[in-house]
Amino acid sequence: MAPSGFREPVAIKVEKQVKQQGRKTPNIVLVGFMGTGKTSIGRRLSTQLRMRYVDTDDIIERDSGRRISDIFSEDGEAVFRELESEAVRKVSKLYNYIISTGGGVVLKEANMVELRRNGIIFCLTATAEEIYQRVRHQPHRPLLQTPDPLTKIRSMLEERHSYYAKADYMVETTGRSFGEVMAYIKRVFAKSIRDSR
Ligand code: S3P
Repeated sequence: MAPSGFREPVAIKVEKQVKQQGRKTPNIVLVGFMGTGKTSIGRRLSTQLRMRYVDTDDIIERDSGRRISDIFSEDGEAVFRELESEAVRKVSKLYNYIISTGGGVVLKEANMVELRRNGIIFCLTATAEEIYQRVRHQPHRPLLQTPDPLTKIRSMLEERHSYYAKADYMVETTGRSFGEVMAYIKRVFAKSIRDSR
């Protein structure tokens, strides 16, 4: 946990800057592998910074009226990726949002181009072992429904490494509290708003 005397001033500072920028404040975009904390961090940031929160997986489920796992099993990954790109195009038109994305959003360069248009992209990272511990009791991720999820996580992290590295900032979450991760994101965000003036 970051010392509270450090956390609060940063939050207040960013909030003030968000207000000063009015409607055109850029988005904070969270990318990263499954289980790196995009949803947990994103929701907390949304509350602290008073920025609205949206998740591309939620948009896909809402618009299609189906669960992600059903889209994968009935139509396959390629169809899911198309729906994901559609959701990315929608959220990239927003300002002043915390945008959380599915772990594979980075695989298409076009998605990254869209998300970067109005947003600063933070990639949350964690070790394979830590990710495994976080997701092992969560059955809703179709790509991890295999007999040996840890090996699958390791190989997917390896395959995707160069895609995640395209984010503007990498944020390691292993061994860090939500408060510490958020303090870093808020500090970087505040600085980039300041620098863009
Ligand atoms: C995926 C990650 C999932 C979801 C889908 C595919 C991926 O989102 O979009 O199951 O390819 O890594 P989370 O990262 O939110 O679990």
